[in-house]
Amino acid sequence: MKKIFPLSKVYSLLEAGPVVMLSTAFKGRNNVMTLSWHTMIDFNPPLVGCVISDRNYTFEAVKKTRECVINIPTLEIAGKAVACGNVSGRRTDKFSVFGLTPEKSAAVKAPSVKECYASLECRLADARLAGKYNLFIFEVVKARVDTSVKDPRTVHHRGGEAFMVAGRTIKIKSKMA
Ligand SMILES: Cc1cc2nc3c(=O)[nH]c(=O)nc-3n(C[C@H](O)[C@H](O)[C@H](O)COP(=O)(O)O)c2cc1C
Repeated sequence: MKKIFPLSKVYSLLEAGPVVMLSTAFKGRNNVMTLSWHTMIDFNPPLVGCVISDRNYTFEAVKKTRECVINIPTLEIAGKAVACGNVSGRRTDKFSVFGLTPEKSAAVKAPSVKECYASLECRLADARLAGKYNLFIFEVVKARVDTSVKDPRTVHHRGGEAFMVAGRTIKIKSKMA
């Protein structure tokens, strides 16, 4: 039996993608913020939409530098990921404070986060909806993934302090009725 669900919590049902750590380099400093409001938009070239609040330092960094890296953390560093989502990089060097390693990226100036199993280097493709919805569309121009990590235990935000951890990978065959 379904019950009426508060509209303010609808996001926690749909927010299935992994929590990511979005890194930037701006005014000579590296920064990283945590983000779970993202969506795939196209396959190839891969386009990803990210909602970055204009209250965040990253908003300005992305607008000005037009690039970032979307890093995907696993459970092992989930505490650090959440910490990066609760303090602004305006005055804090989050890489240093939270013991994360900035790694040289291959195609963009923004650093990757070494501790993350995947890093998607992005260029800003479209910022037309940034003013209205804080929505940035990025094109992934280089993707680097540690493929030795089988079944990456990514974390998925379910609202507040609740997270779901991804489990084993299964295959589901399409069956005709
Ligand atoms: C699990 C989690 C998910 C978050 N998702 C988003 C998001 O999708 N968009 C956003 O703008 N902020 C999100 N935040 C908040 C930012 O990470 C936070 O405001 C951060 O301090 C911004 O850092 P900055 O000022 O260095 O850019 C999230 C925080 C957490 C902990």
